[in-house]
This record gives sequence, C-alpha cells and structure tokens, in this order.
Amino acid sequence: MSYRYLGNKTRLTDWIVGEIVRVLPAGSTIADPMCGTAAVSIALARAGYSVTAADELTFPVVHARTRLLAKQAPAFKALGGYDKALDWMRSPVPVEGYFFQEFGEAGKPANGRAPRLYFSAKNAAHIDGVRDGIRKLAAAGVLTEVEHSVLLHHLILSTNRVANISGTYGYFLRTLSRPALQTLTFEPIEFERTTGDHAVIQGRVEQLASTFTTDAVYLDPPYTKRQYAGNYHVLETLAREDEPVAAGDGGLRPWTDQASDFCYRRSAGQAFRETLKRLEVPHVFISYSEDGQVEEDELLSILSDFGKVTLHEQPHARYRSNDRVKDGSVLERLYHVEAF
Ligand SMILES: C[S@@+](CC[C@H](N)C(=O)[O-])C[C@H]1O[C@@H](n2cnc3c(N)ncnc32)[C@H](O)[C@@H]1O
Repeated sequence: MSYRYLGNKTRLTDWIVGEIVRVLPAGSTIADPMCGTAAVSIALARAGYSVTAADELTFPVVHARTRLLAKQAPAFKALGGYDKALDWMRSPVPVEGYFFQEFGEAGKPANGRAPRLYFSAKNAAHIDGVRDGIRKLAAAGVLTEVEHSVLLHHLILSTNRVANISGTYGYFLRTLSRPALQTLTFEPIEFERTTGDHAVIQGRVEQLASTFTTDAVYLDPPYTKRQYAGNYHVLETLAREDEPVAAGDGGLRPWTDQASDFCYRRSAGQAFRETLKRLEVPHVFISYSEDGQVEEDELLSILSDFGKVTLHEQPHARYRSNDRVKDGSVLERLYHVEAF
C-alpha cells in the first residue's frame, strides 16, 4: 500500500518485526496503538501474532480495520460483490458538495476565500459522489462494519493519490500538479488471511495503555512537531464522513482536541512516562528516530525507570517533502523495554 505518511514504517517492517520475533514467540499477542497506515500491524499479523491496532485519529482505524479484519474480499451483497463495489466507486454520480466547494479548484469556500486547490473540480465532485453514496448505503444499513471500512479505505487511498499537495495537507500547491490532474482510480487491494485474532480500537495511547492485556506493545509515536490531526485533516474528514467548518486558507477542520503531546518538546517526555506507567505488559518496543523531540539520553533515562532497555539501530532514508528536503539518512531506533 503506497502511502505518503509521516513516519510510515512500510520500509522498516522487516527490521522491526525481525527484532520483535527474536523475543516474542509466534502466536503471542501484541498491540500497535499508534498504528498510522497499519503497516506494522499487518506485518506483525503476517508474523503470526494476534494484533490489537489503535490510533487517536479515525483514518488509521479505517486502514487497520481493512488490513487486519478483512481477511478476504467482503461479500458486498448490496453492491453485487467486491469488483462491483470498485466499479461503483469508479463512476458515481458526481456531486458538487462539501469537497467540491471547500477543497476543489472551482469551489466557493464558506469563509469566502478563493478556491482551495487541493483537488481538480472533476476529482472533487467524484469524491463527493462516492462520499454521498457510502453515506446512503450506511444509512440504509446494508454495509457490514468491515465493508464500510473497506470502502472508506479505498476512497482515502485514491484521494491521497490525486491530492495537490507536497506531502501533507497543511496547504495545497499553487497550480494543479500532474498527479492532481489524473482521474481517481480504484484498484483492487490484497486481502490477507492472517492467522491471528485481531482487534481495532480508537483512542489516545495514554488512556488505552492500562487496558492492554497483550504480551507486548509496539509504540510508534510522532517524533517531530508536526501534528497528524492538522496535517492530515482531509483524510480525517473522509474517514469521519462529516462536513466540519473548514478554517483559514488551508481549510483545516477543528483539530486541536486531537493534538498529540508527543509532538511538543515540552510534553513529549511526560507523554512517554504517562504511557509507560500505565502499561502492564512484559515487553514494550518503541520506534523513535534520532531526530525526535526527546533526546536519546533523556529517553533512555525515562525507559530505564520501567525495565531493562536494549537499543537496536538501523540507518533509514529521511522523510522528504517539497517543503522540507534534507539529504542523507537518519538513524532509526528500536528500543526494547523488558519490564522489571
Ligand atoms: C509515526 S506515526 C505511526 C506510523 C505507523 N507505524 C505506520 O507505519 O504508518 C504516529 C501515529 O501516532 C498517532 N498518534 C499521535 N499521538 C497519539 C496518541 N497520543 N495516542 C494515539 N495515537 C497517537 C498519529 O495519529 C499517527 O498515526
């Protein structure tokens, strides 16, 4: 699943899961409560674990439900099967709705600003058409929870591919880029029949931590000051299926109630402490980059209050987006805390 997402571990899963497998026997249970694209969740599931995935935001939960819980193509009885569901998403009746007005090149944002160029007019109306259709199917009660997630998962992936952005949704490009001029495409995805008994929930890790009864927890917190809720507001709106006030030039939905303490230098260390204090599992694995808000010494000092710490390191290409290009590689770190 190709997906530009800050901190996406797709290219690091072999290494991360390889280190976990050395410690945790297949058949064990593990939680991935900051799951993002669910790349690590599905890699853990492939390794034979039962995975509980979670995130503070809604669209990662949609991805995790699809990747972990849909072990085969859903029946989609109301649409005549999975292939027909894809056909339906490819050619809905276009609607000049919320996406068209707030995020389309020919729109009229409610706050009176000039059109926001996140999407071509055609793609924006297509997105609205699919959103409208999914909402009607859900209201008619003809979709299972997993089918509903699979449709939203497809819509998010397809929308992301044609978004006129430089990596995140903080702002849009000044003219429509080549990808933004492409038609929305809906390609079949692979459903994976993993053996584990998986679960997907939504919430803040500091609050969920005490509820995990798994053998291990894998934490992948944000390590820069960029807030996911603000930077991926368009995807959150697709997943929540709502029409929030689109504020300012960027059209951000209200997001501060989903702000993460891990993104602030002043609160990141405390967020680690709060989370670890509440976890009652034998093994905690933590991905954290050398570029993180919490310095290595400070993190080691926090973690060593909770168990025996082992550190694994791997060089990794830096995240690149047009508004923040840095060369070279960054050291990706995986901490293993074996609880006292
Ligand atoms: C580095 S990304 C995870 C990337 C993921 N492992 C992947 O491969 O796609 C961090 C994730 O943590 C989530 N997040 C941030 N603060 C959180 C919190 N306090 N509780 C739960 N999730 C949080 C973000 O929404 C984001 O999806």
